[in-house]
Amino acid sequence: MTETTLKLGVNVDHVATLRQARGTDYPSVVEAALACEAAGAHGITIHLREDRRHIQDADVYAVREQIGTRLNLEMANHPEIVEIALDVSPAEVCLVPEKREELTTEGGLDVAGNMNALRDPVRRMKDASIVVSMFIDPDPQQIQASATLGAPCIELHTGTYCDLPPNERGPELERLVKGARQAHELGLQVNAGHGLNLANLPGIFDVPYMDTLNIGHSIVAHAVMVGMPVAVRAILDAMTPYTGGKP
Ligand code: PXP
Repeated sequence: MTETTLKLGVNVDHVATLRQARGTDYPSVVEAALACEAAGAHGITIHLREDRRHIQDADVYAVREQIGTRLNLEMANHPEIVEIALDVSPAEVCLVPEKREELTTEGGLDVAGNMNALRDPVRRMKDASIVVSMFIDPDPQQIQASATLGAPCIELHTGTYCDLPPNERGPELERLVKGARQAHELGLQVNAGHGLNLANLPGIFDVPYMDTLNIGHSIVAHAVMVGMPVAVRAILDAMTPYTGGKP
């Protein structure tokens, strides 16, 4: 297995996208998750959206039951999904914003603006020993709000950074670096994800204190060409040079 200090959570939502496109019973999300684990992934991430466009309720239960690593369930703060999360009891939930018309998660969660709505679900999930993570932009107010709410973990949204042309990424990288430092000082675990691929990944190695990267679309897209084990190992190899943000 590839040695790396940085952990990888593979998001297998788009295996389900392929299945839902035809209403078949293949490709299997569980089989994909097991292949990711066998290739060295440290966890599996899935997003049960309110519109159920890819992952279905049965997938969540099946993946939870059959994987040997950690399940990270991405979810909106919606009462129905909160109840499912409490029933499934994944190792971790990552609270994300969700809009029906979006192609994928756009922007981070507004934790600061939704403290009252988030307080009870966060408390209930923490009481159930689920690690609660907040998917947020590298914004000082959102990082502070996540800590105030008692979430032990944040996932920094790297999508803005990834979408910029390489020569214009500097200021957003600086925001990610500062955000990671602030979160670490507040005692929060720092994860990151969204839009990462083999080409843009090394650019975020300046971000300190990262524990886990959650990567989905680019791995599944690569896997279509080379198979899941090769695609997962390629990302793990690319993650190996990370030194925790220290030169
Ligand atoms: N992290 C979060 C919170 C996400 O919502 C997603 C997309 O589902 C990812 C990571 C993975 O993003 P990508 O598919 O662009 O790698």
